[in-house]
Amino acid sequence: MSIVTSKEMFEKAYQGGYAIGAFNVNNMEIIQGITEAAKECNAPVILQVSSGARKYANRTYLVKLVEAAVIETGLPICLHLDHGDSFELCKSCVDDGFSSVMIDASSKPFEENIALTRQVVEYAHAHGAVVEAELGTLAGIEDDVHVSAEDSSYTRPEDVQEFVERTGCDSLAIAIGTSHGAYKFKPGTKPQLRFDILEEVSERLPGFPIVLHGSSSVPQEYVQMINENGGAMPGAIGVPEDQLRQAARLAVCKINIDSDLRLAMTGTIRKYFAEHPSEFDPRKYLGPARTNIKELVKHKIIDVLGCDGKA
Ligand code: G3H
Ligand code: 13P
Ligand code: ZN
Repeated sequence: MSIVTSKEMFEKAYQGGYAIGAFNVNNMEIIQGITEAAKECNAPVILQVSSGARKYANRTYLVKLVEAAVIETGLPICLHLDHGDSFELCKSCVDDGFSSVMIDASSKPFEENIALTRQVVEYAHAHGAVVEAELGTLAGIEDDVHVSAEDSSYTRPEDVQEFVERTGCDSLAIAIGTSHGAYKFKPGTKPQLRFDILEEVSERLPGFPIVLHGSSSVPQEYVQMINENGGAMPGAIGVPEDQLRQAARLAVCKINIDSDLRLAMTGTIRKYFAEHPSEFDPRKYLGPARTNIKELVKHKIIDVLGCDGKA
């Protein structure tokens, strides 16, 4: 088994009414936690690298760690660039062995988004990789681009067919009310994704895989663990898991999760240090963090995404 594209994963997920988890990776322990969970659940998985992660770890390490995960697990694993912002970055990742790239030109005018996405699709397809594109803007933080809730705009269903036809992209990220980070909804308000938009999009694109970014549910047990151990994250609220489950049953084939992993890792390490103030062996605190990432991902796979047993 080597790194695979998401093509077959999405075809099966669409047909089967489930979704594949796309988890952001930055280091060895995160990759191990996610892929050990996927192995125990016999689930296909997407490991995604942002440009920030690639800068942090450098361009070689994460690819090699993902290759190691493929050897260790024997699972279908897709290596994906998250939020690529230029042709050059997407090309560089394809050249490095990524099987999938996202070109995120969603903040550009429609015609520019089409032109840039088309350019990436031509290169990626010629080299055996697939492409995710985005229409509509999520609120929140994507690397250095900050989008306020007021500026975020839902995807216009009337645009999707033309966009997919003219770009040739393999999957489409849409904006239906999710956002990046741990503060997705105002405290006291009722989070509600726009399923009417999702349904209209999928009616216009029958059988086409839809992607949901900003899909962390922000587990309160980890927020509490952070807050009880010196942190300050009041008002951190995520997407309710029942709404993610509903999206997975519909046309959404890829659900992006990063913040939840960060919370699990940080909460675990904060608690560890509070209980072991004189410990300084990194394995002692990174080990439990890896274990809790694994437990979190198992929960997502089994209880939210429904992709257990689908590898
Ligand atoms: O959508 C953004 C992801 O959570 C990646 O975040 O750019 O800080 O690595 P990052
Ligand atoms: P969260 O911040 O909700 O985890 O979203 C991650 C994401 O969309 C990565 O592209
Ligand atoms: Zn995203």
